[in-house]
Amino acid sequence: MATLAELARSHTELDDRRVVHLQDLVSSWGLLADLSFADLLLFGRGGNAAEDQLVVVGHVRPTTGITLYRADLMGQVFDGRRRPLVTEAFSTGVTVRGSVNVGADHDVRVTAVPVRQDGEVLAVLARERIRPDDRSTSEQERTYVGLFDRFAAMIEQGEFPYRDEERLRHRTPRVGDGLLLVDADGRIEFASPNAVSSLNRLGMTRGVTGARFEDTGLGSSILREAFDRRTAVIDEMERSDEVAVVSHCFPLLDRGVATGAIVLVRDVTELRRRDRQLVSKDATIREIHHRVKNNLQTISSLLRLQSRRLQGEEARSALGESVRRISAISVVHETLAQSTEDDVSFGEIVGPLVRVVEESVSSPLRPVTFIVEGDAGMVPGQVATTLAVVLTELLQNAVDHAFPEAPLLPDRSETPGDGEDSNPGLVRIELERRSDGLSLRVVDDGVGLPEGFDLDEATGLGLTIVRTFVEGELGGGISLSPAERGSGTVAEVRLPASRLTGPWGDSREPTG
Ligand SMILES: Nc1ncnc2c1ncn2[C@@H]1O[C@H](COP(=O)(O)OP(=O)(O)OP(=O)(O)O)[C@@H](O)[C@H]1O
Ligand SMILES: [Mg+2]
Repeated sequence: MATLAELARSHTELDDRRVVHLQDLVSSWGLLADLSFADLLLFGRGGNAAEDQLVVVGHVRPTTGITLYRADLMGQVFDGRRRPLVTEAFSTGVTVRGSVNVGADHDVRVTAVPVRQDGEVLAVLARERIRPDDRSTSEQERTYVGLFDRFAAMIEQGEFPYRDEERLRHRTPRVGDGLLLVDADGRIEFASPNAVSSLNRLGMTRGVTGARFEDTGLGSSILREAFDRRTAVIDEMERSDEVAVVSHCFPLLDRGVATGAIVLVRDVTELRRRDRQLVSKDATIREIHHRVKNNLQTISSLLRLQSRRLQGEEARSALGESVRRISAISVVHETLAQSTEDDVSFGEIVGPLVRVVEESVSSPLRPVTFIVEGDAGMVPGQVATTLAVVLTELLQNAVDHAFPEAPLLPDRSETPGDGEDSNPGLVRIELERRSDGLSLRVVDDGVGLPEGFDLDEATGLGLTIVRTFVEGELGGGISLSPAERGSGTVAEVRLPASRLTGPWGDSREPTG
């Protein structure tokens, strides 16, 4: 469907500045529709060739009443003679009221208001409503329709939409949220039932009608500012932690003089309370990750202390490996503690994990270089924790088994001057995220797997942990095979996309 700007460009001769005036009107006319209990149509007029052609450039329905039109009339073109009152408002430049047959089954009461900017009529706003039956109208309805008429006069005078209106930070309250009508002296002439409820919550216990606005608890500055600046002003009042009310003040102007104002009030206590809860919950979860990380580090130090007292090499190395596994998990919690999300970018964890493994490579006789390639994207925190342990095991295996301390590699030992220092072992960590899942490869250029190696038969603790986690917990697959080129080993882990989605069910691709 075409927008106001597009329709204005194709059907009228209005320039950008004039179109902006109409857009400003339309952005706040939900208020007018509510006050008028009627459909509002904004008519533009065709260019020279078609003087009597009218095009609907805007249509809004009331939330307080029944619409006349089931279909949206945006973009419809009418012969000017079928909308005589609109045509008359265009040519005379004054508001026209009357009753016409507009094609619907009934006579329709029309108020046609010229929309003026700097003296010039840009468009006509038509309020269209089925003639009300004889049923007497309520005080509230009479008040609201009277208010619509005051806004209509402002539109005709070019005083509404307001100049330099503050752009909205909040959803504009609607009339149904609560409405106060205030006179030029700041006395409340009328208060809708919802407005009274909001004021009661702000602590105003006595009668609202007849009271002074400054006694409402909404603060008097909003009214003063709206009167002084002759534009709409928004404010939010919070009384301790219990009540929060947004008020939106629209001054009523007559030839540049403020004759009163309406204040829409919306109780946002519940909304703000939920905002605060979300924020604090988020902080709590981060704090918990932080504490888990600290606790894991404490456990690591205890194990390290214990290992120093041991004599047996086997026992010491067993404790050393446990320290390493715990450190891998604590890396993930550290990352989660710093993130505001439940997901972590796994690529960010790889670096710290490499450092955990590097710390365990004590012998300078076998330097190993690590390279990270690709990106794994975002993964849920729980998956990241498990995957971190898996990656650490695979890295540790490369360090432990691919590059034995003795210079076993024939081409290395035979080439003079090509010692380990100038030809370090290389371990590449290749990450890839695709629509069908994630793959993680640890590729080394070491001595390769032992002859007859069979993953299914491997009994070491490291690969047992890897298989249990990958196949069990992560629902993925693992393979160990000789490198495609030269010597070395490729360990590959693949995770299905279904395990990489958060609790909200959206799968995220890596960014960048
Ligand atoms: N990158 C690799 N290069 C060469 N051999 C490997 C490689 N990764 C694993 N292996 C072989 O697979 C075996 C099993 O590994 P696994 O991690 O299960 O046990 P481990 O490393 O010997 O002991 P642990 O991990 O419990 O300390 C290793 O002993 C080694 O022979
Ligand atoms: Mg191992």
